[in-house]
Amino acid sequence: MLNTNSEYLRAEIMDVIRLFDAEDEDITHYFSYGANEYYNCIEYSGKFYDFTNEKQTENEIEYKRYAKRYAKIAVYKVLSEAKNLNFPYGALTGIRPTKLAYIEKAAGGDFRELFKECQVTEQNVEHVARILQVQEPYYKNAGGQDLFVSIPFCPTKCEYCSFITAPIAKTEKYVDNYVSCVEKELASVKHLLTDIKSIYIGGGTPFAIDARQLGRIYAAINALNLKKCEFTVEAGRPDTFTEEKLKLTKDFGVTRICINPQSFKDETLEKIGRKHTCADIYKAFERSEKYGFDINIDLIAGLTDENLSDFENSLKRAIELKPANITVHTLSLKAGAKLKESCNRLVIDDIGAMLALSRQMLTAAGYQPYYMYRQKYQAGGHENCGWALAGKECVYNIDVMEEIADNVAVGANAISKRVCPIGSQIRRSASPKDIPTYIEKVDKIIEERNELFSK
Ligand SMILES: C[S@@+](CC[C@H](N)C(=O)[O-])C[C@H]1O[C@@H](n2cnc3c(N)ncnc32)[C@H](O)[C@@H]1O
Ligand code: SF4
Repeated sequence: MLNTNSEYLRAEIMDVIRLFDAEDEDITHYFSYGANEYYNCIEYSGKFYDFTNEKQTENEIEYKRYAKRYAKIAVYKVLSEAKNLNFPYGALTGIRPTKLAYIEKAAGGDFRELFKECQVTEQNVEHVARILQVQEPYYKNAGGQDLFVSIPFCPTKCEYCSFITAPIAKTEKYVDNYVSCVEKELASVKHLLTDIKSIYIGGGTPFAIDARQLGRIYAAINALNLKKCEFTVEAGRPDTFTEEKLKLTKDFGVTRICINPQSFKDETLEKIGRKHTCADIYKAFERSEKYGFDINIDLIAGLTDENLSDFENSLKRAIELKPANITVHTLSLKAGAKLKESCNRLVIDDIGAMLALSRQMLTAAGYQPYYMYRQKYQAGGHENCGWALAGKECVYNIDVMEEIADNVAVGANAISKRVCPIGSQIRRSASPKDIPTYIEKVDKIIEERNELFSK
């Protein structure tokens, strides 16, 4: 149990405590501030630890930022020493390390110093530096809007995933109505898309719906008469690919699609509930390639019963296909996922080696890391990272992770975000995850989004 005299620091400190799986242990934290000095005292396992950091701050917001930062670092150092454990991103528990680096740079600081102070490993400081370099031209192009369309249907539910609530067999009856609501929403956002940078149809599995329904979505986007831009369809599961859907996708101007193996081992695919085989992956890739799409491949490190050599094999096979992008996810434990029912904490021996190997092999194959993010209960405290061949970076992914463009999002479980002007407070409007509730509330959702972007 954490006992602190500063309740507003509790959530941040708990994020660090959770990293060490120490939620049930007694930790007493005392914080005070005076004459530009932040003082943290921690009692843990019968010992006291004192930390003093000096920092001049300009206002309340800055003061709070540093109070949180120093409290987290103090708790991290105590637990790290006592348990003889280190994590790749140290006391950084947020989902956007690169965004933090940009904020530090904008404030005149050196992100490397900050990351080192937070006990981030040397390799990860350099990894982030590499990403910032690749992102530079995109970051300079901040502003405008991205359009997101959510298709929350999947053939089956994978054991690690919380994106959808049920397999399509249970939700199929809603698809036609769902598509009508998305059409209505799309027609309502035309006036918001004055400087569009990218379109992203995501999921779920957009190819899980039939070609006629998919075509209706494409036609509704087409009717907006947007200027030509990057257009991704996260088609997804290789078992949903058909010639008809691919042709339609090409005809409507899609430039980038995702074919997501997760693993190239049939046994694993079966265990995680993917219901497709390795042969399906190759078939989907072959069919898609002839249309000239930029292809992204998603892999996950740490899948059930996989070891380093299984993951190495998946990486090798993904690289052999020479897709424009390869995204390496680290398995994370999500509330609402089947995996959570049988496991409280992910302990995967080789996870650090898997991530290190992915960096080494992808770099050697000519890929560069171009965006990254982290999740709360991610194995070993690692990250998800997108890799791209030069010039093939996905604008949408960068914009979303760095929050440098407005996101106009339609469909169930979609969050529209107003981030412009950059640096202002980010505001959101979200739609329900449950499909019948979404259908029932669509008019209200449209109203709320209009309000979000009107002031
Ligand atoms: C929104 S999902 C949609 C992808 C698509 N439906 C598919 O499965 O092919 C995007 C990606 O997130 C990753 N993902 C989902 N749940 C995850 C988890 N618990 N841990 C790690 N990666 C996860 C998977 O790699 C997945 O391809
Ligand atoms: S990983 Fe993809 S296919 Fe599997 S349940 Fe999640 S969104 Fe659906």
